[in-house]
Order: sequence, then structure tokens, then C-alpha cells
Amino acid sequence: MDKFVIRGGNPLVGTVRVSGAKNSALPCMAAAILTGDEVTLENIPQVRDIDTERRLLESMGAEVQLGYGRAQHRTTINCRTLSDPVAKYEIVKTMRASSLVLGPLVARMGLARVAMPGGCAIGGRPIDLHIKGLEKMGATLVQEHGYIEARADRLAGAHIVFDKITVTGTEDLLMAAVLAEGETLMENCAREPEVGDLAGLLKAMGAKIEGAGTSTIKVQGVTRLHGAKHRINPDRIEAGTFLVAGAITGGDLIVANCNASNLGAVISKLEEAGARVDILGHDTVRVRADSQLRAADISTEEYPGFPTDMQAQYMALATQSEGASQVKENIFENRFMHVQELVRMGANIKVEGRTATVRGPARLSATAVMCSDLRASASLVLAALVADGESILDRVYHMDRGYERIEEKLRGVGAQIRRMGNVFAAREEPAMAE
Ligand code: EPZ
Repeated sequence: MDKFVIRGGNPLVGTVRVSGAKNSALPCMAAAILTGDEVTLENIPQVRDIDTERRLLESMGAEVQLGYGRAQHRTTINCRTLSDPVAKYEIVKTMRASSLVLGPLVARMGLARVAMPGGCAIGGRPIDLHIKGLEKMGATLVQEHGYIEARADRLAGAHIVFDKITVTGTEDLLMAAVLAEGETLMENCAREPEVGDLAGLLKAMGAKIEGAGTSTIKVQGVTRLHGAKHRINPDRIEAGTFLVAGAITGGDLIVANCNASNLGAVISKLEEAGARVDILGHDTVRVRADSQLRAADISTEEYPGFPTDMQAQYMALATQSEGASQVKENIFENRFMHVQELVRMGANIKVEGRTATVRGPARLSATAVMCSDLRASASLVLAALVADGESILDRVYHMDRGYERIEEKLRGVGAQIRRMGNVFAAREEPAMAE
């Protein structure tokens, strides 16, 4: 299994470029199921979850070209010949987002068999709201042998009010609604930018959608969708991770190819903590931290609040901030897996229920640590960048799921980081996925 070796102490200086958003690319790839025409997606990140989604679509009979290399980061998907509307457990267990094929399969094929994703490192991750929404649209769903089987001759538009705000639940049902008979009104929807990105692709395919990106979405169903070309938005969580990296190392880092307009909560929190953040353009943000950082509390909320996917990264920063920072995790029930590893590096963190109290600044000392999930891995990388000595991070395949060539990007702005081990070992699937 791959490891990272990181020697701390270097401030990050220079320009780092953000890749396309994994959490946009995954629903957009699933949306290709909704048509027999070709769908081309640009600015696809070169991360393992995208490869997993490629394998998932191919296992159902889709043709998927996935090109990388400097000029590409493009995928072309053709679901004309979908033969097997089944998302098998072997794939779903490694990537929960596989449940995103449920809605499109029922909408296009009238049938879907999707393995129950099961829990993961950060929580139970149920999909009951996806199921309830499809039932309201007329699908009959049976759960047995670890699979959900959903059937519908043709889904009917419905009025859906989400009990809880769910990102992939909103995306799954949006994809179901675009081919349903009549109008669907969805309320209490997720407002994450990735929902808007998906809606942009669906509208390019001929869908009739109003309100995507707000909490109320209205869809007029159509009988068929056509192919389209769509560019995936920049990854706001990767961008946020780099902004924290620039601040925690006391560097002067320019984060390029990002979308400054969806980084508001992260930027204002970094400024509250004493970092200097300048928006140099709509796609370029500069972060500097040349004075002692100070404690600032966070409470994770749905967009546009402080993102849960940035909680672990912020906690690493809080270990270096003067005072006590309260870190409250409201979205997932078990998203403090990084705490013990940070404590082993010398951090002062006490967890009570869903709140961690982080006292700093704490001198972090390098050691061997274990990555447990995607964003916890990012937190440990950030801590290692300021720890004294050489840290070894094990199980970095978690990181490879959602960060493209992270060690190259960090090395390019002065970090002392290298990958160790057989790069093919990174292909080993983890027992559980986010
Ligand atoms: C998406 O997961 C993201 N993944 C997650 O990113 C992100 O952390 C999460 O949204 C929250 O922003 C993708 O987009 C592929 P939810 P998702 O449904 O959709 C509960 C990363 O690090 N819930 O918004 O699975 C659920 O348990 C990953 O990139 C139900 O109860 O999250 C959670 O407590 C990790 N029933 C809350 O809602 C349901 O049917 C929010 O979950 C669905 C969700």
C-alpha cells in the first residue's frame, strides 16, 4: 500500500492549480445513463473514484472512454447499450456514491438493482431519502439480499419534501425527475454547487429544470434527453484544502483554477483565524499567514455554511492557532477519525459528542500515522507539513480517491513530500468507502 513521506517545516509558496470537482463529476457521469447519445465531460479529475465510476458504468454495459494526460481529463460515455442495470456490491462497497445510478437507471430503464452502500468510516450513510423519493414518484422498491430493486414503467412527477438535506439524494431524484411524466417539485433540496453543476449538464441534455442550487427545484419531465458536452466545475474542497495548506505553513500560496464564489465560508473562517486572503480574480485566491494564527470556532452546515468536507482540514489548522477552537460536526456522526492521529502528533484535542475542542498552538512532531478516510487523510497531510521531522502516512489510497496528484501539486509549491511503495498497490480497494 502506498505511503506518503512528508518532512515538515517548509512554507508553501507559489501557485497550485485545482482540478475538477469529484463530487460534480460523479453525478454527471451517472447522468449519461439518461440518454442513448454520447455525453462528454471535460475537466474530470484524475482520481480513483472516477475510475470506480467508469468500472461501474462499464459493468452495466456502457461504453466509457476516460482520457487523461495534460490536454485531456475528459470522459466520453455512451449508454446506448445498457444491458445490465445492476450496481454490484463489489463496486458499491468501495464507493457509496454508486447509489447515484439508482434514479437514472429507474428513469431510463424502468429497473435498477443497486447494492445497499452500507456504512463507511464517517457514518451510517443511509439512502432512505433516495428511496422515499422514488416511491413517491411511483417506483416500487424491494430491499433484499443487500440490494435495492426499483421498478417503474414510467416515473410520475411528485411533490417531494426532503426530511433532511441530502446532496446525492437531491441529485439522484433530480435525475429521476427529468424523464418522469409531468412536474416534480422538490423542497428542502441541497444547495451545494455540485447540484447546480449537475443541473447544468441535464439542461444541456434537454431537461427542463428551475431552481437548481436553491432549496426548491421544479422539473418538467420530458420523454427523452440527448447527448451533450459539459465542463465540470473546479473542486471547492480541494481549493479549500490548499488554502488551509498555505495558511498552516505560514506561506504565500496562490490557488488557481478555483471558483472563488463558492469558497465564502472557508475564506471568511481563514480570515477570522488571522490569515490574509485576497481574491485576485473569479478563479484565483491568494492566502498568506505571516503572523500567529488565532483560534476560531467552526460548526459544519450544509452549503453555503462551513462544509463538513473541510472540517478535518480546518482542525489541523486549529492545532496551530492561539487559544481554544470549538469544532462542531453536525452532518456526519463519526467524522473525527483524524483526531487520534493528530493527537499522536502532539495536538491537544478533546472530543465530547460532536464537538472537538482544539487548543493551540501545539508543537507537532513527526511520526507514522494512518489515513482512515478521504478528508482525514488531507488533515494528516496538512499536520505533517508543519510537524518537525519526517512523517509517514499509511493507506494514502484514501487520499487518491479525491485528490489528483496531490504530492506533485504540493511539491510544486515547496513541500517536502514523496510517495513510497508500489503505485499499483494503490489500486487495492479499501474495506470501506466514504
Ligand atoms: C455528499 O455525500 C458528498 N459526496 C460528501 O462528500 C459530503 O460530505 C456530503 O455530501 C455532505 O456535503 C458526494 O457528493 C459524492 P448527504 P452524501 O446525503 O450525499 C443523511 C467527500 O469527502 N442522509 O448530503 O452521501 C446522512 O447520513 C464526501 O468528498 C440520510 O439520513 O451526503 C448525513 O448525515 C464524503 N438519508 C446527511 O444526511 C439519506 O437518504 C447528509 O448526507 C441521505 C442522507
